[in-house]
Formats: sequence, structure tokens, C-alpha cells
Amino acid sequence: MSGGHGTDDGRGTAAGAATRTATDDGHAGTAPADGGPANATATATDGGHADAAGTRGGRRSDGAREVRPEELRSHQWYGTDGLRSFSHRARTRQLGYLPEEHLGKPVIAILNTWSDINPCHVHLRDRAQAVKRGVWQAGGFPLEFPVSTLSETFQKPTPMLYRNLLAMETEELLRSYPVDGAVLMGGCDKTTPALLMGAASVDLPTVFVPAGPMLPGHWRGETLGSGTDMWKYWDERRAGTIGDCELAELESGLARSPGHCMTMGTASTLTAAAETLGVTVPGASSVPAVDSGHDRMAAASGLRIVELVRQDLRLSRLLTREAYEDAVAAVLALGGSTNAVIHLIAMAGRSGVKLTLDDFDRIARTVPVLANLRPGGKHLMEDFHFAGGMRGFLSRIADVLHLDRPTVSHATLREQLDGALVHDDDVIRERHRPLAAEGGLAVLRGNLCPDGAVIKHVAMEQRFLKHTGPAVVFDDYRTMQRTIDDPALGITADHVLVLRGAGPKGGPGMPEYGMLPIPKYLLEQGVRDMVRISDARMSGTSYGACVLHVAPESHVGGPLALVRTGDTITLDVAARSLHLHVADEELERRGAAWTPPPARYERGYGALYMEQISQADTGCDFEFLARPGTTPDPYAG
Ligand code: FES
Repeated sequence: MSGGHGTDDGRGTAAGAATRTATDDGHAGTAPADGGPANATATATDGGHADAAGTRGGRRSDGAREVRPEELRSHQWYGTDGLRSFSHRARTRQLGYLPEEHLGKPVIAILNTWSDINPCHVHLRDRAQAVKRGVWQAGGFPLEFPVSTLSETFQKPTPMLYRNLLAMETEELLRSYPVDGAVLMGGCDKTTPALLMGAASVDLPTVFVPAGPMLPGHWRGETLGSGTDMWKYWDERRAGTIGDCELAELESGLARSPGHCMTMGTASTLTAAAETLGVTVPGASSVPAVDSGHDRMAAASGLRIVELVRQDLRLSRLLTREAYEDAVAAVLALGGSTNAVIHLIAMAGRSGVKLTLDDFDRIARTVPVLANLRPGGKHLMEDFHFAGGMRGFLSRIADVLHLDRPTVSHATLREQLDGALVHDDDVIRERHRPLAAEGGLAVLRGNLCPDGAVIKHVAMEQRFLKHTGPAVVFDDYRTMQRTIDDPALGITADHVLVLRGAGPKGGPGMPEYGMLPIPKYLLEQGVRDMVRISDARMSGTSYGACVLHVAPESHVGGPLALVRTGDTITLDVAARSLHLHVADEELERRGAAWTPPPARYERGYGALYMEQISQADTGCDFEFLARPGTTPDPYAG
């Protein structure tokens, strides 16, 4: 033994470490140490993880039960008498840590989706240091784990193909290592649901650290929004109204800093959903990625997770049906991304909560759209942050929320929202002055989408809310790209563009092809929207009369596979209907003649994906991951 530090008995924890986790808004979480308002967020007993006799853990000064060092999950790796513990302690010394630096302390895994190829997360390597700072100060032992990055921009055919792979990686890493609690670092579109899906399946105390939005874009006096203005100016380019010089300037002005897309796209929608679920520190989701406040938020998350481990407050206490319903309400009132429908259904499934498309449609009728953010509105995420962020925003829809549920920082959401203010009523609208009277998404049904489809009706030309037109059908995306601009197709603004072969299996991975391009010759005539229908998804930064997520998809023989050019289709958003005007007998004849596409993957992850992936209406999870059941912890002795 060197220096008398080689035994297990030096494992006193910094139990009295400061636990105050206020973010910039001054809303502290638990603050028993500084005499602030006590916040008995949860106890081991009501978390359902204490033993039946309630003997687990000691009592804290605020009455909450506290997990003792020998009850930590990591104790199985470090604290027993056997050969393996001896080896684990020796190997941790090999990592350069003194025993008193880590033994008996909560081990906090920081799962970091940083990568050189992911501009939305390129700052997360630095930010992980701030999380570690918080963990050390609270008396924990931080360990960073690099995990897959899902870069929306670069990964093909789409990061959605790999969402479940990151979820699996998250789950298995947390399960197989000596981890007592987790901090998840992500934000670019699929990373948020993937990390939370995996973590929910393990059910440890967990805090999510959102990557934060990038700075607003700028070009020639205009403010540019991620994606939204890229699509807009690309159409101008195709229409011939801007040239190479303008395009090069736009390339420099669109994305000015690290951070995820700063419109209310999929990233902002999902991180806002995470904050609403209660798995971030208050106000976390809108802090700009390069703001010093982002460092402070990361440190606050590190402080907080150690306290959550001591309280044994696990994700299952937070991710309840009430929490998911509140996340749906928030997404709808934000005018958020259609992708949230798929991801929240999948996340809820991992929490044992059955969330359905009908829940979205039902809740949509109870909340107005209050966030004036692109693509449906005017402002960007930095404006939203300084207007009050999610605390201010949620305070405006508090009447539809479940306020008595806990969050990572407060005993109840009600406490978390107490005193929340909105500082700009144009960015976060008042209830009597909404952007739209109902939530931003509608769920459609009909003979073209028996298992449902979605449309973001607040971000489209309103004349298409009810529209009947002849279909122009494309069997796959590449064919569509090759032929869409051919005037010989005779497409008019009243036609309905139909794309198939772009669903969960057909894409594969449901690429964001759903905002089909408008034919160039129509753009030149000034047309900027058309009704488009597909089994694909659409970027959260996109807009237009795009019917998405048609289920079942064409690849498995859904009715979309049977549409022919010239068939008439009616979209009626008010009636929540999508109807193909073809007789049932004719559809049956076409169905009998339909042949499934050949298998795309003979081996590898792709083959597993094709075998396991579910349809859009059930969240596109893998069957073997979504099914109920327990997974044993590994034996670490
Ligand atoms: Fe990463 Fe948009 S590309 S969030």
C-alpha cells in the first residue's frame, strides 16, 4: 500500500458538498446545504428502488433518504473483497486516480456525442469538462464515455437509421460499467431521443445536457435560420433569383458557431421536450451553445447528478405518462418538429408508457401555438432564450400541464415554474394572441394512411388545408430527383406530389425527403408550396403542405404503394382526413398484383434493422428493444 491510501475504508464521500444547482435564472434546485428552500425531490423509498424494509440509505437533514456508499451500484466493482475488486482498484490507480479521489463516491458516466464530424456537438468535448467540474465538486467521480455521434448533416442515408444503435450503445455502456448515474450530452436531432431511450431502459439517475442552439445566421442584413433559410434560398437559387456569389456568402452566414440548429427544428424541439420531461436542469434547453451560461449549465448538471444518485431518483420516477403528455403539449405549443411524434412515442415506449398518434391529436386541440419561432414563425432560439426560455414558455401553458410531478431539480414542476417570467410577448405569445389556435401538428387518417400520417399545418400555405388534386407518383427519391424538373410531366401547382419508398424500411431509415422539391418551372412562376405526400420524414426546419409518416409505408405494401399517377387525392386537415379516390375493389386488385421489393441488406446492422424496425406510428423502435421485460445487471464480482 502506498501512502496509506490503499484500502477500501477511505471511502468517505463529500456528503455535505454543495448541492445547489441554480442555473442563470436563479432558480435553485435542491438547496439543503445553504439553508435555501429545501427540496425533497424524492426518496429512495418512493423511487421504488429501496429494499422492502426501507433500510436502504441514511437520513438527510431534509428528511430524504440518502444512499450509502456501500449501496452504490459501483460498490460491486470496487468495494467487495474479491479478486475482481482488487483488480478494478488497481486499474483505477492505473488511470491515475488516488483511492480517496473515487472510492465510495458516486460514479457518474458522462456520455458524450462529441465528434469532429458533428458541428452541432463540436463544443461538447470542452463542455464535458464543465460537467466533470460539477461532479467533482459535489463529491462524485466523473468518467467520460465517447459514444456514437449522429450528425444530421453528414450521416447517410440518415442518422435515423442509427438512432436505435446509439440507444443500444447507451443502454449497454451504462449497464456493463460501474456506473451509478449518467449525464447524457447531445442535441443534434436523433441524439436526444437515442440517449434517453437507452437510459430509460437502464433506469439510473440521469441528467440530460442539451448541446444548445448555435448563434443566429446573418446575410446582407437578414437573420438566417438553420435549415429554414437554407431551403428557402436554395429554391431562390433554383428559381434563378440568386447566383454563385450570393450562394457563397450564404454558406458563410448560415451556420456561425458550434451548436444545433437554432430554429424550432427537431433538435430544439427534442431538447425542449427533454426539459419539459424534467430531465434537464431548469432553463437548460435554450442556452446558446457558445454562451458562458452553457458552461454553467453543464457544471450545474454535474452538481445535480451526484445529488440524484444520493437520493436514488431514477428516470422511471420522472418519465411517467403525465410527463410524456406534458412533453407532447409543449412540442405542439412550440409548433415543433413532426419528428417529435416518432421520437416521443419511442421514448415513452422505453418508459413503459403507451403514447399514440391519437394522444398527439387530442392534446393538439387543447393547446395553441405560442412560440413565434421559425420555421412556422419569425424568431430564433436565442430570442426564445432571452424571452424566458422553457420556464417562461411552460408557465404560459401551465393549465394543461401536470404540475405535481417531479423533475431532476424540483419536487414538483409547479415549484420549477414558480416565478417564471416572459420578457418578450412577441416571441412567446400570450394565450389570447397565439400564432395558431390549435397545436402545430395534425394527425390524418384515411384509406391512404390507415395507421396514420402527420402534417405540420401551421407551417404551410393555408389554401392547401383542404385540397383535391391529381397525383404524380415517384417510386423512389432518386427517380424523383432525376425527373421532377422535366416539364413533360406537366405538373401544376394543383397536383399532389407522391413519394414512396422512403419509409422506415423503404428509405431505409425514413430519410427527411418529405419536403419534395417543387418543379423548377413552377418555382420560376412563383409557386412556393404544393401538397406533397410521402412515407418519409421531414426536417424540423422544413415547411410546406407535406403529409408525412404515412403508415403503413409503401415498402411493406401500405396503400401508398398502390397509388398511380392520375389518381385523385383529397387532403382535409380540419377533418383530419387523407383520401385516395379509388374504389376498394380496384385497390384490392392493385394490392394482389403488388410484389415486395427485394431485400436490401444480406448481412450486418442493416439486416438487423430491417428485421426489427417498427412503423412510424409506433415510433420506429426495434421490437426486441421495445418489448417489456427485465435485463439483469451483470455480476461484477
Ligand atoms: Fe444538427 Fe440540425 S444539423 S441539429
